Formats: sequence, structure tokens, C-alpha cells
Amino acid sequence: MHIALKIRRYSPEQDRPPSWQDVTVEAEPTDRVLDALHAVKWRHDGSLAFRRSCAHGICGSDAMMINGKNRLACKVLIKDLRQPIVIEPMRGFPVVKDLIVDMEGFFNKYRRVTPYLVAQDPPPDKERLQSPQERERFDDTTKCILCGACTTACPSFWANHEYLGPAAIVQAHRFLFDSRDHAKAQRLAVLNQSSGVWRCRTIFNCTDACPRGINVTKAIGEVKQLLLHHRARSSHVSGEVAK
Ligand code: SF4
Ligand code: FES
Repeated sequence: MHIALKIRRYSPEQDRPPSWQDVTVEAEPTDRVLDALHAVKWRHDGSLAFRRSCAHGICGSDAMMINGKNRLACKVLIKDLRQPIVIEPMRGFPVVKDLIVDMEGFFNKYRRVTPYLVAQDPPPDKERLQSPQERERFDDTTKCILCGACTTACPSFWANHEYLGPAAIVQAHRFLFDSRDHAKAQRLAVLNQSSGVWRCRTIFNCTDACPRGINVTKAIGEVKQLLLHHRARSSHVSGEVAK
């Protein structure tokens, strides 16, 4: 079957403005968009640049805008899309080439929220135990694959690139609600900055964009609540001290 694609092309080194390339490839309706991109690269135009690794929705490297929505090219079936299938890089990150965006800034923000467990109590003989209920508290946000689809779908991020963005907040959530962690205060200090969680305007684009089905907006709301609770507790304690 003929599949019509319309792909955004851009090579900064060629000093030409971005342009659209129309290509028709042979593919099955049950093939994925990633298969169609492979068909372009392997049979029509080897200069097309895009990222992919696992091809099974695990690594997060092939997030791109497909028919106006951020998706993983390896998870979307051709039969579920109208044609021509319009494929663009995610919005809001600098384009390196064609569908590849520069994610350096994205990962710098990820690192700012201390995205790992900080346990300050002495190591136990075996593992650090946690009840099923304690584990359940942050189960949803453990599913993040750092694809960037949420952050690049967020109008608050488009308006201000200093904003940490939904993905970094999801990562913070994963550890803030972990009963074994002791770095809550340092994470909340970052999230409370002007570039932090208060820039979220609850637009829900992030939840809509997430290919892992994470309720991103809910997680951000829980982080806001935690910050408010933390602030109230701190002012209560300093009031007690002043008395
Ligand atoms: S929360 Fe979802 S959309 Fe955002 S980076 Fe993680 S997996 Fe991707
Ligand atoms: S290639 Fe790994 S998620 Fe699509």
C-alpha cells in the first residue's frame, strides 16, 4: 500500500530555511510510523535524520510530532493516522537536524531535581524495605522514559524555556513520595524557584502527550500540594521559635 508522508527537513549547516519533503513509501497499514521512516531512509533518501533505539516504546528516543501531536514513532500505527502523515520535530527544543532535537537543556533540568534516591540512614543488612502501599504512592511516575513529549507539548515551557517542565517534575515526584528518600527539602527548594512548579498552569497538554499514560498533571498537582504543606509546616515551626 502507498503511504504518503510529509516530513519537516532542516539542516542548519546548509544555511537554508526548514522545508517540507513529500515522500510516498510502500508499507502495510499495520506498520508503525517508525517503519515508514526507515523506508524513507533506506530506500528513498539516506540523508533523513531521526533518532530511535529500542523500537518498542521503552527508550523514549523517537518522540516527535506526528499529525500535530507528540508521539513515539515506534508506537503509532499507520492505519490510525490520516494521510499525508505529517512528521515534525518536537516543539521548543533547538533542532539539530530534521527530526532530531537538542535535549541537553532537558537533561540539565532533569539533573537539577536530584533524580535518584538519597538515603541517609545507615545501610540495612538486606534491602531498604517498603510496604506495597508506600511503593504504590509513586508507581505512576516510575513509568517515565524521559522522551520529552510532555515538556515540548507545554505552552508554559514554550513561553519560558527556564521552566523546569513537566518531565523534570515527574522525576522529582518519583523520589519526593518515596518513603526511603531523604532529599525532599533540596528538591522542593528547586521546585519552589521562579522556574519551578508554579509555572504550571494546569493546561493538561502534558498528560495528553505522554506515551506512557502517566497522569502528569496529577503528579504536578501533588508536588504543588506537598510544597504548600512544607511551607505551612516551616512557617508554623519558625512561629513557634519566635514566640
Ligand atoms: S512524563 Fe511521559 S511524556 Fe513526559 S518525559 Fe516521561 S514518559 Fe515522556
Ligand atoms: S525507539 Fe525506543 S521508544 Fe521508540
